[in-house]
Amino acid sequence: MRVRLKEKLAARLPPDPQTHIYSSFDIIGDIAIIKAPNDSNVAKAIAKQIMETHKKIQTVYAQTSPVEGNHRTRKLTLLAGQNTTHTKHKEAGCIFCVDVEKCYFSPRLSYEHQRVAQQILAQEIVVNMFAGVGCFSVIIAKTSPQTKVYSIDINPVAYQFMIKNTHINGVESRVYSLLGDAKELIETQFENIADRVLMPLPEKALQYLPAAVLALKKTGGWIHYYDFEHATNKENPVEKTRLKVIDKLDQLGIRYSFGCGRIVRHTGPNWYQTVLDIQVTSKDQ
Ligand SMILES: C[S@@+](CC[C@H](N)C(=O)[O-])C[C@H]1O[C@@H](n2cnc3c(N)ncnc32)[C@H](O)[C@@H]1O
Repeated sequence: MRVRLKEKLAARLPPDPQTHIYSSFDIIGDIAIIKAPNDSNVAKAIAKQIMETHKKIQTVYAQTSPVEGNHRTRKLTLLAGQNTTHTKHKEAGCIFCVDVEKCYFSPRLSYEHQRVAQQILAQEIVVNMFAGVGCFSVIIAKTSPQTKVYSIDINPVAYQFMIKNTHINGVESRVYSLLGDAKELIETQFENIADRVLMPLPEKALQYLPAAVLALKKTGGWIHYYDFEHATNKENPVEKTRLKVIDKLDQLGIRYSFGCGRIVRHTGPNWYQTVLDIQVTSKDQ
């Protein structure tokens, strides 16, 4: 499908813009979001071609701001189709309702959702500190039928969608949706309770790492730590993240070791999103 679209675009457009756009093209439910070039006629031609090629797409937006702010949202401008930012996205046998402008959502995290869900053991207690509309939380609860997830987000719109998504997917009795700051909630309600903590907010992960440790049981558990890392061609972004995290964890005086570490995705020239699985083996100092 993508090859067909690329061929059609190549016939319609000069090569530069279509190559740029193609690398940053996301489909969420029946909405496509492209990184638009300055030339809006080019953007509209691409949008039209996307709708002709992908029959399920009802709307094409241009992303006109970076993902920004506390809620990690972006501004969108309509290029073609119906002007609605609401959609339903299917992933891993689950359905996610989302407003793509008022909430964070990325189909590019689907591998991570699965990778983490596959690691959950029966009856684990999970704290998802930055849950968005609940993708990790719902997929984990669906994959592991005895697991309970405390699923936190600070964005009231994402929180409402998270509640809806737990109901649609039949996991509302085991995914507890919570609105607020993850650090505050952990400090007041969720100290020493978790077998596993998810930190899918690279911008705040290092700052919030002590709160993640606080949430873990005294006997320890796993933290899935996401970060953004700059690395030259000679540097290893995962190793750079590891060094930063070692520095922080050593200040907490806990015992820990590292499991998997990987690049989640390339986010710009020499920039990467990384993930580290950290096993805390004891919180006793
Ligand atoms: C990158 S998104 C999460 C993506 C989500 N886990 C997924 O898989 O789709 C980060 C989320 O963290 C939320 N957030 C930002 N600061 C927060 C805080 N201090 N406490 C809780 N949630 C926060 C944002 O509202 C946003 O929804």
